[in-house]
Amino acid sequence: LAELHHGGRLREAAACYAIPLEQWLDLSTGINPLGWPVPSLPAECWQRLPEADDGLEQAAAAYYGAAQLQAVAGSQAAIQTLPRLRPPCRVGILAPSYAEHAAAWRCHGHEVVALGTNDIETQLPALDVLLLVNPNNPTGECFTGEQLLAWHEALAARGGWLLVDEAFIDATPGLSLAAYSGRAGLIVLRSLGKFFGLAGARVGFVLAWPALLEQLAARLGPWAVSGPSREVARLALSDRAWQAQTRQCLLRESARLHSLLQEYHLPPVDGTALFQYCPTPEAERLHDALARQGILTRLFQQPSALRFGLPGSEAEWQRLAQALESLITTPKQRAVEW
Ligand SMILES: Cc1ncc(COP(=O)(O)O)c(C=O)c1O
Repeated sequence: LAELHHGGRLREAAACYAIPLEQWLDLSTGINPLGWPVPSLPAECWQRLPEADDGLEQAAAAYYGAAQLQAVAGSQAAIQTLPRLRPPCRVGILAPSYAEHAAAWRCHGHEVVALGTNDIETQLPALDVLLLVNPNNPTGECFTGEQLLAWHEALAARGGWLLVDEAFIDATPGLSLAAYSGRAGLIVLRSLGKFFGLAGARVGFVLAWPALLEQLAARLGPWAVSGPSREVARLALSDRAWQAQTRQCLLRESARLHSLLQEYHLPPVDGTALFQYCPTPEAERLHDALARQGILTRLFQQPSALRFGLPGSEAEWQRLAQALESLITTPKQRAVEW
């Protein structure tokens, strides 16, 4: 399976643009730059095998408001495993969206139907699985709970699944379907990589009905998540004060990013608390021009667009503003080139 392109490949950018790694401002992912502060861990986290009753699942159940869940080594592990749990079928996936989903379903012999938002309703009767990222990455598009539950009901009535990837939902938990995830045919994916900023820990959760979780657990085998990662995730999921403060902070920061990009004639069409999405025919040129100044953004080709993650400090905000300013030299050029 060919490796897909992702944000966060800073070493590759450093080599490509001959700029040392430590001089980069990486805005190419949707990872919170001010992630949960990881403490040093007790030695037994490293030395003992992880045990199921260490409190992680209880902390996750309380945080997500869902009793039935399975910890996975990042939601990526679930993305790759879930297509093995159905015989070949028709899977509708929004396009553009997070590309690992379509690749994983195709890899296991399923037929993937690329959907625009307006196609979902008409295509639904011909689908076995509807897969949506909510809010969507990279576009930031959101679906309402009411709409999703209606689609779930139609699919579940004939043994189908609604699979909702909520990797970017933590700052807006009211949008989540977690509370409904015990229903047969409804699968919700969550990640600790984005809002909590713990992408390197590789922890996510699958929220679903018990029979599916049993099948998934059997596929994943024992010790699916490492001891240190389980402990860090347990602590982060239990830290209500940090979560409340971070939700507010990210919503404020993402509004600031939206305004900044608008000011420099790159109006985002949409975004989430963790990134802004800017379709522009100039995406490739702008991506290159910013990279020459050591600022890495995420470039999309189809459709042509840039995604900007959040700067983490005031100095980084200033650096981004100056770089955007330097790309437009005269008022005339502003109008023509941007
Ligand atoms: C929409 C979406 N889902 C899932 C993932 C995978 O995240 P992780 O495996 O770190 O939980 C990503 C990573 O970029 C993503 O953007």
